[in-house]
Amino acid sequence: MALFKKKQSFAPVPGAMPRHIGIIMDGNGRWAKKRGLPRVAGHREGAENFKRIAEYLLDLNIEYSTFYAFSTENWKRPQDEVENIMSLLVDYLHEWMTMQKEKNMRLHFIGDRSAFSPQIQSLMAEVEEKSAHYQNHLNLALNYGSRSELVKACNELLSEGNRNISEDDLSAHLYTAGQPEVDLIIRTGGEKRLSNFLLWQSAYAELYFTDRLWPDMKKQDIDDALAFFAHRERRFGAIIQESGKR
Ligand code: IPE
Ligand code: IPE
Ligand code: MG
Repeated sequence: MALFKKKQSFAPVPGAMPRHIGIIMDGNGRWAKKRGLPRVAGHREGAENFKRIAEYLLDLNIEYSTFYAFSTENWKRPQDEVENIMSLLVDYLHEWMTMQKEKNMRLHFIGDRSAFSPQIQSLMAEVEEKSAHYQNHLNLALNYGSRSELVKACNELLSEGNRNISEDDLSAHLYTAGQPEVDLIIRTGGEKRLSNFLLWQSAYAELYFTDRLWPDMKKQDIDDALAFFAHRERRFGAIIQESGKR
């Protein structure tokens, strides 16, 4: 009698570079507070650092990166803070149009963009279209929440008449459809939680937490996270067999 219905084989690769890195950019508010500045100053500096670190990941030729910029829960913040963040987003989109076009980054805005103004939505669409031919992918998570992403995927599958959905079906209805799973999640700011970020996609991600506040995160800190990653033994539920032994 067969004990197993299906057999899967994975080939864990220790020491490899991550194909997909997720970054939870946390700590802007505390960075500002430490300096006696308003929180918006932290967001401004955080946005500058996002550009620096995104460029560094491109230099390292990381194929996919996902930056968490604004969660579905961040609307709970005071209106002036939300407005400040939105205006930084508009600045970034305009800046991308004028200055960053030459960068080899294909941008995707992941999250429910219907909550944004028509101006922001059309800028997002334009940036996506103009960057569509670039090679390396950068997802910017805005009004993003993993739970609402999963519910959206289920509703789409239901409305297509599906009655029996597979993992692949679900993956294909996420904002990250077609992209590899996340290998490494980096969270700055000291908290050790995912805060509704890529819950499905990071099922087997390595998790790296640092106390560094996001505006202070440097290239060297990324190198440290990559060194941490390179030392992980990724098993994906299997066991690593030493060569020649059984
Ligand atoms: C992350 O920094 C940026 C967003 C969530 C928009 P925070 O604003 O959460 O900074 P802290 O955690 O209050 O320091
Ligand atoms: C997570 O940070 C969201 C982003 C970085 C965009 P939060 O500051 O919102 O998370 P919590 O509230 O500490 O969990
Ligand atoms: Mg925070």
